[in-house]
This record gives sequence, structure tokens and C-alpha cells, in this order.
Amino acid sequence: AATTTYEAERATRTLGVVESNHVGFTGSGFVNFDNVEGSAVEFAVTAAVAGDHDLVFRYANGTAVDRPLRVEVNGAVVASASFPGTGAWTSWTTRVVGARLVAGQNAVRATATTANGGPNLDSLVVDNGITAPAPAD
Ligand code: GCU
Repeated sequence: AATTTYEAERATRTLGVVESNHVGFTGSGFVNFDNVEGSAVEFAVTAAVAGDHDLVFRYANGTAVDRPLRVEVNGAVVASASFPGTGAWTSWTTRVVGARLVAGQNAVRATATTANGGPNLDSLVVDNGITAPAPAD
């Protein structure tokens, strides 16, 4: 399925800063959550069709300690997702959370739930929810 990439540096931040000092990010940078519980990034995600979608968070965590994020869609909690260490702040990887989206715009909010804040967040990639038909024989 086709995907859309939402850059964290273009999303709405609560207690965080945009930085670009650790290479490997897409777009123009990433969000460094403040090291505090409640720091957050909110994406405005447009879904072509309602239904289950993969929310693919691209992140780095250069510490050895998990930086969990509570993921909410349109105000409802859909996951408490772990974002474990990636080995270095320049080592980016993805964490997938499945969520039901409505057709049209959705607020996807990721909030740090520990005093360490969140990981460095590069982007959110969302599939369009449309499954291609199987090729004809
Ligand atoms: C370091 C690192 C930042 C990171 C921060 C943290 O300062 O350079 O990119 O966000 O640690 O622990 O959150």
C-alpha cells in the first residue's frame, strides 16, 4: 500500500525542540522531546479510508533505557509503546503501532510517559489502508 511520511519537525510539539545534530534523519531534522513526562508530538494524519493502519514511528534512542510513548488517536489511547535503545543517537529504527483511523484527518499524539521524555523522533509513516488487488493470473 502507498504510504505518507509525516515529518516530526513539521508536527505540533509540546515540550520539545527540533534538532538536526544526529545524522540519518529524513526531512530537515527530528524532534528532541524534552526530558520530562508529558512532552509530546502531535501529527495531523489524513487517511484515505477508515480502518486499521500501521503507524510507523522512526526514532533513535542513544541510551540503554526505554523511552515509552503513549500513542493516542483522536484522544483515545491506542498503545503504550516501548522505544528501546538503538545503540546511538545516529542509529534510527522503526516501531510500528496498529491503530484504527477515521477517514479524513486524525490527531495522532505521542506522549512521553517517563521523566526521561521520548526518544528522538524522526517521522511517522502511515499506510493508506488500501490493499492492492491480487494480480490477475
Ligand atoms: C543527548 C542527545 C539528544 C537527546 C538527549 C536525550 O543530549 O544529543 O539528541 O535528545 O540526549 O537524552 O533525550
